[in-house]
Amino acid sequence: MTYEEQYARYRQMTEETLDALLSDGAFARIPSKLLQSMRYSALAGGKRIRPVLLLATTEMLSGPLDEARVPAAALEMIHTYSLIHDDLPGMDDDDYRRGRLTNHKVFGVGPAILAGDALLNGAYECLIGNALRYPAHLPRHVQAIAAIAGRAGVGGMIAGQSIDLESEGKEPELATLRYIHEHKTADLLTAPLEAAAAISGADDGKREALRRFGYAVGVAFQIDDDILDIVGDAAQMGKATGMDAARGKMTWPALAGLEQAKAESAALWREAEEMLSVFGDKAGFLRDFADHMTKRKN
Ligand code: IPE
Ligand code: IPE
Ligand code: MG
Ligand code: MG
Ligand code: MG
Repeated sequence: MTYEEQYARYRQMTEETLDALLSDGAFARIPSKLLQSMRYSALAGGKRIRPVLLLATTEMLSGPLDEARVPAAALEMIHTYSLIHDDLPGMDDDDYRRGRLTNHKVFGVGPAILAGDALLNGAYECLIGNALRYPAHLPRHVQAIAAIAGRAGVGGMIAGQSIDLESEGKEPELATLRYIHEHKTADLLTAPLEAAAAISGADDGKREALRRFGYAVGVAFQIDDDILDIVGDAAQMGKATGMDAARGKMTWPALAGLEQAKAESAALWREAEEMLSVFGDKAGFLRDFADHMTKRKN
């Protein structure tokens, strides 16, 4: 199977699981407008990078792929909530996301906050329900949930978003920028690797290599996002460009210029690939993923 076919396969698994989890039958007595707004953002395309990484890594580690489906989709629900809230007027105030109007532009600010809350809480309901379905592997699933909760939580993505907001309009500074990138983005990209390692019962050496891979991928990914905000095509990306400069965001290009930012990202992508050596031939998909990501346009 080619890399593209493999990606499409993981993506399809994610779409099917998300569609099933975000359905009338899945949550008891969910108001229909709320469900509609959750589905509007969660089933709106998106690259599905985090669930694809979770599924691919589980398969690489010969773990139980079926048991990883719900965690993969739940992680995408958490990511989608972070995007809905990130776009709110009190945060980045963006009008377009994933090629359509942002959630609050369609449903209003209050309902968009609740759609985010619902995706976040719903994700944990799904994760816990899934863990209870596999009693023989319960500790592994609890470890995976702990990894996701920590990475998404107050010391993780939320911490990064908090400092991102606080740093608007301030003179860029390397230590702060690193903190923002590590937490707002790298944490949620490390989560699928740690969750897959937990579900698969990987040894400590492999867990550490995956954690370091996730960190390099995550920081490189955010530097590329900052670069694309300047040089990217809004139609292709499905979101507006030029917003970081307009809001005085602390980004790598703002700190060191576009060329330095590109060099930093390229170095991190190389570092990411080096972390995969312990997996030998089995890391083919993750290696191709890193290669493709260096050329991404959206
Ligand atoms: C956007 O994430 C937010 C960042 C961390 C830069 P993605 O670029 O993965 O967004 P989708 O899921 O493909 O829409
Ligand atoms: C957001 O970073 C990361 C999140 C935790 C959502 P950005 O604010 O740069 O993401 P975009 O550019 O809006 O997708
Ligand atoms: Mg933001
Ligand atoms: Mg934003
Ligand atoms: Mg951005």
